[in-house]
Amino acid sequence: MSGSTLLVSLLALSTVVRADYFSTDPLVDKVVPYDQIPYQVMTDTDDPRGFQSGYNQCNSSTENQDSLCQTMFVNHLDDFCLWAPATPNTTISDAEANVVAWCSKAGHGTRIIPNGAITGIQLVQTPSYIQIAGTLNQLMLDVGGTDGGELDSGGQDGEGNPMGGLVYSNAFPSNNGNNASYQQAQHWSFFIGDGAFCGKICDQTGSNPQGLCNNIYDRLGCDYNAPNDAAAGMFEACAGDDMIPVGTYVVNGATSVYTQPAETVPIDYNALPYTPTPAPSSNCVSFASADLFAAGASITGAGSASATGVSGSQTGAATTGATGGAAAKSGSGTATASGSTASTTGSSGAPAALGVSVGAMALAFGAVLLV
Ligand SMILES: *[C@@H]1O[C@H](CO)[C@@H](O)[C@H](O)[C@H]1NC(C)=O
Ligand SMILES: *[C@@H]1O[C@H](CO)[C@@H](O)[C@H](O)[C@H]1NC(C)=O
Ligand SMILES: *[C@@H]1O[C@H](CO)[C@@H](O)[C@H](O)[C@H]1NC(C)=O
Repeated sequence: MSGSTLLVSLLALSTVVRADYFSTDPLVDKVVPYDQIPYQVMTDTDDPRGFQSGYNQCNSSTENQDSLCQTMFVNHLDDFCLWAPATPNTTISDAEANVVAWCSKAGHGTRIIPNGAITGIQLVQTPSYIQIAGTLNQLMLDVGGTDGGELDSGGQDGEGNPMGGLVYSNAFPSNNGNNASYQQAQHWSFFIGDGAFCGKICDQTGSNPQGLCNNIYDRLGCDYNAPNDAAAGMFEACAGDDMIPVGTYVVNGATSVYTQPAETVPIDYNALPYTPTPAPSSNCVSFASADLFAAGASITGAGSASATGVSGSQTGAATTGATGGAAAKSGSGTATASGSTASTTGSSGAPAALGVSVGAMALAFGAVLLV
C-alpha cells in the first residue's frame, strides 16, 4: 500500500467520523437581552454532540464552586469571567462543550476565580471590543493538560463552546458607563491552556464584530487572535485601538488574509506569513492583584470534584489537536498559543496521525493493523 493510499484512507476515516450536523438556530445569531435570559439558551434537541450541560439563569443559589452557570461577563479588570472546565484537571478539548463561567467577582451566580489563579492580566478596551489576556495557574481553574483550546460562540455545530454559552458586558461604549445595564456580545472567542488565557468579546453595535472576534483561527492561539502585552506579575487596564481583523495582515502595503488549513493539515508555526503585534494601547493603569481577586481570597483551589448535574450527554468530543501551539508564540511571549482544536468535530486520533510524515504515518497505520 503506498503512502498516498494511506493518506486517502485516513482522510476518509476522519470524514466519516466527523459530524455534519449544523444548527438551524446557531448561538451566534441568538439575540438575548439580559432581562430575558432563558434557563437554557440552546434549543436544538437533535444535536449528535448532545445538549447544553449547564444553565444560563444564574443567581445567588447557583453561586458556588460547583456552579454550572454558562452566562459570563467581561466588564472591568476587577469584574470579568473566564470559561474553564467544570471538573478538575480536564483538558479543554475534553471540556469544551461543557465549560462553565468562573468570575473574579461575586454576584454573577458563578464559580469564583480563586485568588492566585490569575498571575497576570491585561485588559484592553477598544472602540469595538474588550480584550483580556494573561497568565494563570491553570489547575486552580480545573484546566488540565498542556494544550489549550478555543471557546467561542461558533463551534463545530453552531451551538458554541460551551454549548449555549452567553456573554455580556456593562462596559461597551454604547452602554455609556452604566454598570447596571448589560449588553450581549454575540461574537466572542477565548483561549485557555498552557498556563495562559485570552479572550475577546465584541460589541455587536461596534465595527466588524464578526471579523474582530473571528473564531475560525482556533489553531493560532492568543498571539494571533488577541495580540497583547500581558505579562506575569502585571495587572493592568488600558484603552486601545481596534486591531486589524483577526487573520488579516499587511505586507509592503498589500493586505492579505491568512487561511488556516483544514484540521487534518499540520501548521508550520515557524512559517506563518505574518507575526501580529498588539494594536496601540494607552492610559494603562496598574492594580494590585489582591484588589482584583478579593472575592476569591478564601477559595483555595479548584471546584469540588463532585460537579454533579452535568446532564449533557456529549458524544463525539473534539479531538485533541496536533501540538505545535507553543511554536506559535511570538511578540510579547506571554500569550498562550493553544494548539488544540476547540472547533473541530469529533474524529479522534486521525488529525494527530496526519500531522506526521507519510513515512511515519505508515508506521502508525501498521501499528493499528498489528493490534
Ligand atoms: C436561580 O437559578 C436557577 C438555575 O438556573 C433556577 O432554577 C432558579 O429558578 C433561579 N432562581 C430564581 C429565584 O430566579
Ligand atoms: C463600574 O464598575 C467599575 C468596576 O467594576 C468601576 O471602576 C466604575 O467606576 C463603575 N462605574 C460607575 C459609573 O459606577
Ligand atoms: C492531571 O491529569 C493528568 C493526566 O491524567 C495526570 O497525569 C496528573 O497527575 C493530574 N494532575 C493532578 C494535579 O491531578
